Amino acid sequence: MNVNVMTHPLIQHKVTLMRDVNTGSKDFRQLLDEITMLMGYEITRTLPLEDVEVETPLVKMTGKQIAGKKLGIIPILRAGLGMVNGMLSLIPTAKVGHVGMYRDPETLQPVEYYSKLPSDIEERDFIVTDPMLATGGSASAAITLLKEKGAKHIKLMCLVAAPEGVEVVNRDHPDVPIYVAALDEKLNDHGYILPGLGDAGDRIFGTK
Ligand code: PRP
Ligand code: URA
Repeated sequence: MNVNVMTHPLIQHKVTLMRDVNTGSKDFRQLLDEITMLMGYEITRTLPLEDVEVETPLVKMTGKQIAGKKLGIIPILRAGLGMVNGMLSLIPTAKVGHVGMYRDPETLQPVEYYSKLPSDIEERDFIVTDPMLATGGSASAAITLLKEKGAKHIKLMCLVAAPEGVEVVNRDHPDVPIYVAALDEKLNDHGYILPGLGDAGDRIFGTK
């Protein structure tokens, strides 16, 4: 399995709070926002820099800025929306595309119902966001869609993953690095992650 588990103590602490069945939507959203920022800080660590001239109030100097291509954030609707603000706090100029997928409750297969992507897709690096990587069907299908539209550099950022989902994305998209806050034990018979945190979309939006 090829997956980066982010073991920073703040991330681990906040994931535990999110798992708690007694954590309500307001706190759940806030924690997801905070974890996304902490994960985003790590994921963007390797962005290339270039020199830029800047004039301080005192002198001219050569500073650093992020080089070349700009980033695109692609939340998988709905739950992936909960990770957008955190990423935009770090990278306010990122473009945001949307891919709508729901999981058929019987077959667990992903069904695409919406997509709207930035026009300069070939020139951007993308981070696909979705709190839950369960069977991996939704993430794999979203990445396939992005690639078909021309995306070349894609990372997948999830909160909680099951080994089954990691294996599917590794198999279908070996070029896509996966970043998670927690790698859980397994899926249950209904395709929910155990121990997991339940239905992320419902907990974010309070729709249960
Ligand atoms: C959830 C979750 C992922 C997907 C994961 O979305 O946010 O997109 O399930 O499952 P998979 O790895 O087995 O495909 P859901 O279909 O519940 O839709 P929602 O975000 O609109 O609630
Ligand atoms: N989707 C969720 O929201 N939670 C799971 O555990 C699996 C899929």
